[in-house]
Amino acid sequence: MQNNITFSMVKPEIIKAGNLGEIITQIEQNGFRIKALKLTQLSIEDAKKFYAIHQARPFYQDLCAYMASGPIVAMVLEKDDAVASFRKLIGATNPVEALPGTIRKRFGKSIEENAIHGSDADSNASIEAKFFFPDLY
Ligand code: RTP
Ligand code: MG
Repeated sequence: MQNNITFSMVKPEIIKAGNLGEIITQIEQNGFRIKALKLTQLSIEDAKKFYAIHQARPFYQDLCAYMASGPIVAMVLEKDDAVASFRKLIGATNPVEALPGTIRKRFGKSIEENAIHGSDADSNASIEAKFFFPDLY
């Protein structure tokens, strides 16, 4: 399994607020190379498929509705130890708990509107990259 790619999605509130550029700059300045990138909007059905792993959780319906509520940016990023390194850069799920300097600390508004997604394992990075870029991964 490749350990040098991760998958990320910039969430709708960031695109709406016009903060996409600053986040991409921070990602690049931290040594990640953009291998694929796409602005798109998820249907509710796609959001449900993408987050199927969370289907038993109480926040699942809300999360899917939110993620389908506006455009998102999907990206595949490359760096050594990409998954762990990117999780460190984005910070804790709840922005209140995220460390200073992390993307979620700086841009996250709540545990749901937390600015950005990052894969949590190499196997999921691969599945998620394929979900958005089936011709490339
Ligand atoms: P992500 O998958 O987006 O990178 O976030 P994560 O691993 O830090 O968190 P995860 O547990 O995978 O949750 C996925 C997304 O669901 C929303 N969430 N809401 N209301 C809640 O208690 C709650 N918990 C999680 C967040 O948008 C989280 O990023
Ligand atoms: Mg997750």
